[in-house]
Amino acid sequence: MKALIAAGGRATRLRPITWTRNKHLIPMANKPMLWYVLKKVTDAGIKDIIINVNPGEVKYMSDALGDGSEFGAKITYLEQRGGAKGLAHVVANAEEHLKGERFLFFLGDNIILGSINKFVDRFQNEDLDCMIALSEVKDPHRFGVAEFHADGTLKRTVEKPKDPPSPFAVTGIYLFDEKFFEAFKTAEPSARGEYEITDIITWYIRNGKVGHEEITGWWKDTGTPDALIEGNALIMDDMERGEFCVDCKPHVDAQIQGLVSIGEGSTIASDCLIRGPVAIGKNCTIESSFIGPYTAIGDDVTIKDSEVEHSIVFDGATIDTTRRIVNSLIGVNATLVDHKRSHPKTSHRLVVGDNSFIEL
Ligand code: DAU
Repeated sequence: MKALIAAGGRATRLRPITWTRNKHLIPMANKPMLWYVLKKVTDAGIKDIIINVNPGEVKYMSDALGDGSEFGAKITYLEQRGGAKGLAHVVANAEEHLKGERFLFFLGDNIILGSINKFVDRFQNEDLDCMIALSEVKDPHRFGVAEFHADGTLKRTVEKPKDPPSPFAVTGIYLFDEKFFEAFKTAEPSARGEYEITDIITWYIRNGKVGHEEITGWWKDTGTPDALIEGNALIMDDMERGEFCVDCKPHVDAQIQGLVSIGEGSTIASDCLIRGPVAIGKNCTIESSFIGPYTAIGDDVTIKDSEVEHSIVFDGATIDTTRRIVNSLIGVNATLVDHKRSHPKTSHRLVVGDNSFIEL
């Protein structure tokens, strides 16, 4: 089987972070979001992977994610042509790679706890034409939603309905057989002008054998910093003990509690408390600080006299403040320091980039 991973789109709601990087490369527990998708896909035994990327992003994405050899897989980067015309169109764009194949379609911003093997196995063993993963949510109107007949069988799936027919969202993990392209020929753009993946699933429900399975522990980025931080925490909870390792020598008097990773070349001074789960990258300097649970710190970060928890700190950032930093995203090379020199002392001095969000 092959897999197609969607990693294009503009992610405008995540600016300013997405001004400078593709959303799917945002670090979560210090690895790009898409790394976890690649891990799930390859763990399910799928080693021939196509990644759909924005026009002009092939080199940038392949430099960040590699050729797949890390996963014993082959990755082909495919530019999305013809503009943003919906997720079914993203698949149609990959027809030359998927024609005649049974394949997995995975939306690169979907993170789930645990493995996807059971979906892939069911799809193959029961010889299904299509398989979807559902998750019960509080806000189904934001997703594709499944509608059921009275006997519990699938009736159709509908994209972002104002009046959802069930609380079951269609998650971004789909399996299709080779009839996808036949179904696509019948598709019409929706009211919002997109070829909806839910319309293709409805075609399969009417013309074939569709399996569905409920999943728990699903995370879908809603475009807010809070959601990214939640995804980061979910990933840390999903990591195995053996994936946390300390590759440097923290000072003997530093307190390292719980599951903690620290990269090569980082220095952790004596007066630090690091309480896991925490992931700290390479060449960081941590002094006189508390790093609390669910914090991911990138490479080359300096943290002094500070308390940081439940946050993502990107590469090269500097934090030196008496204000406790929680639930925060601190971007690449950002500097957060106390305002020491000018008056009045309680004022804030800010240089804030476009579309930033600051809560003081
Ligand atoms: O996450 C599940 C939901 O994903 C489903 O319930 C919906 O049925 C499905 O339409 C989709 O809805 P979203 O509104 O969340 O789609 P979004 O625009 O966020 O794109 C999903 C992924 O596909 C994301 O990783 C970005 C990528 N993408 C998106 C577009 C619009 C592309 O690769 N190219 C694109 O043109």
